[in-house]
Amino acid sequence: MRKKRNAIILAHYYQEPGIQDIADFIGDSLELSRKASETNADVIVFCGVHFMAETAKILCPDKTVLLPDIEAGCTLADDCPPNEFQNFLNKHPNHFAISYINCSAAVKAKSDLICTSSNAVDLISQLPKDIPILFSPDRNLGKWVAKQSGRKLTLWQGRCLVHETFNEEALIKLKIKNPNAAVLAHPECQESLLDHADFIGSTSKLLNFSQSSNKDKFIVLTEPGIIHQMRLKDPLKTYLEVPGLDGCSCNECPYMRMNTLEKVYNCLKEMQPELKMDEQIRSMAYRPLKRMLDMSS
Ligand code: 13P
Ligand code: SF4
Repeated sequence: MRKKRNAIILAHYYQEPGIQDIADFIGDSLELSRKASETNADVIVFCGVHFMAETAKILCPDKTVLLPDIEAGCTLADDCPPNEFQNFLNKHPNHFAISYINCSAAVKAKSDLICTSSNAVDLISQLPKDIPILFSPDRNLGKWVAKQSGRKLTLWQGRCLVHETFNEEALIKLKIKNPNAAVLAHPECQESLLDHADFIGSTSKLLNFSQSSNKDKFIVLTEPGIIHQMRLKDPLKTYLEVPGLDGCSCNECPYMRMNTLEKVYNCLKEMQPELKMDEQIRSMAYRPLKRMLDMSS
């Protein structure tokens, strides 16, 4: 079906293992947007969430972008409705608006620059020191980026439901049981958890760190889908996920997990659900996204 449609299947690390195993390319948000912008395929099947498929459409308006489950959203994008974001911009005139890629196309269209968790610190460091900056929508990522870059950022108060669920007490219990394990954390986690981390970074950076580190055990503070790739790359190491305090698996992203292998097959068969976008919003959202790709090394 993939050959018949001349399609490429892109998958984020938080997809269920079966989807990761059939994907043509797996990556973090930055790598996936790069891959989407470079592909020669006619059809992009985006195994991720809505804002990721939108990003592919913004970069490749002539391609058909399919999202296996069109309802796969993101709490960060939902936390930042375009009208409220416009009010935020109006309240802070003369500010430079940087938006995390986890936001809607309409919010991207109102932003000056897009960033991902992988390049946010680097991009902010390239901006003139005297411009005031608005950072939206993730307050945890924003706080961490401000600390890393030494810049004062005015933050939108959005949060990721999955990363906010990680619990400091559960993490400390796991650290006590596994004193030699390195703690790897995604910057969407709360500061109190990031303070325990040995390494903080995007999903790809966490994966690379787990491979290159001389440690053989890791406590992984992000969605456990990434552990599938960690195990494939280095099966001899041990990877521990952090459960909710009562042992539940609320660390899985309910939106990412809406996509299934069957839905991937069906979307290629039916050529839907297809991601459609208003052309005016798309062309306005393209500008800050292209700027991000041009500025990232
Ligand atoms: P990455 O860009 O690090 O893959 O993060 C995407 C995301 O949605 C994290 O919750
Ligand atoms: Fe959004 Fe959080 Fe899911 Fe990432 S893990 S897609 S930020 S809800």
